[in-house]
Amino acid sequence: MKNDAMKTLFVAAILCVACSILVSGAAVLLKPAQEANKVLDVKKNLLLASGLIEEPVTPEEINQAYTQIQAEVIELETGEPTDIEAATFSQEKASKDPEMNKVIDPKADIAGIKVRSKYAPAYKYLKDGSLEMLVLPIKGKGLWSTLYGFLALDKDLRTVRGLGFYAHGETPGLGGEIDNPKWKAIWKGKKAFDENFDDVKITVVKGAVDSSDPKSEYKVDGLSGATITSNGVTFLVQYWLGDDGFGPYLARLRSQQDLTDSADPSSEETQEQ
Ligand SMILES: Cc1cc2nc3c(=O)[nH]c(=O)nc-3n(C[C@H](O)[C@H](O)[C@H](O)COP(=O)(O)O)c2cc1C
Repeated sequence: MKNDAMKTLFVAAILCVACSILVSGAAVLLKPAQEANKVLDVKKNLLLASGLIEEPVTPEEINQAYTQIQAEVIELETGEPTDIEAATFSQEKASKDPEMNKVIDPKADIAGIKVRSKYAPAYKYLKDGSLEMLVLPIKGKGLWSTLYGFLALDKDLRTVRGLGFYAHGETPGLGGEIDNPKWKAIWKGKKAFDENFDDVKITVVKGAVDSSDPKSEYKVDGLSGATITSNGVTFLVQYWLGDDGFGPYLARLRSQQDLTDSADPSSEETQEQ
């Protein structure tokens, strides 16, 4: 009897050890594949937000489309590029590292994220070597959750080319309508800034935008029954395009474009005509 109990315990112990070796072995073996999938997912989401690919899409198509993207990690405060490797940089990890993060002044924290990384990736879509579109990571609070996404700006750095969220916990049918392709399509062509780039102008309004409103180009229809999520989207877009977000970087890109334009004799000819 005593012998039987010992045998059972022995078999149970062997099983436990074997199972734990199997589980931890699988976790270690699968880690590289999981990391690769995460990287692929970021690429896919930024390409979807910018309209460079459409679902359904294969990993090969994602990687092929991504060859047109040039990523750089910038310092948000100065807008200057850094030598941080974009391929391995994680904004989320950096936002948890006291050396790499910044506690946001509560008055400036309209996106409700409290803390952010000092550095952020920016993705340039280049055509014949010049900037065609800029895709920026954005995040902020909705009603129930933090929304993570990308905003794509045209080369003029004020026209929206696309917006998309790849992670959030808003209610399907209400705040979850931020994923509705029809709503996302409304963003395309809207202006984030006015001609002088004074302030971020774009807002999600309550209800439908009146097309006769002279300011309609800065306004996006609100999601019905989901004003809190809609407002969250306004605030997070305004935060990330503003002075505490990518504002200094956008200003730097604009001044670079001005320099190129004034150095380009063909642009002078065009102006003289
Ligand atoms: C179960 C439940 C889930 C809700 N989910 C959301 C949501 O995801 N986003 C949101 O803005 N409002 C959500 N609401 C509604 C908000 O409480 C609030 O009433 C709404 O944002 C107001 O928008 P409206 O003025 O367009 O009706 C939810 C309400 C309930 C009862």
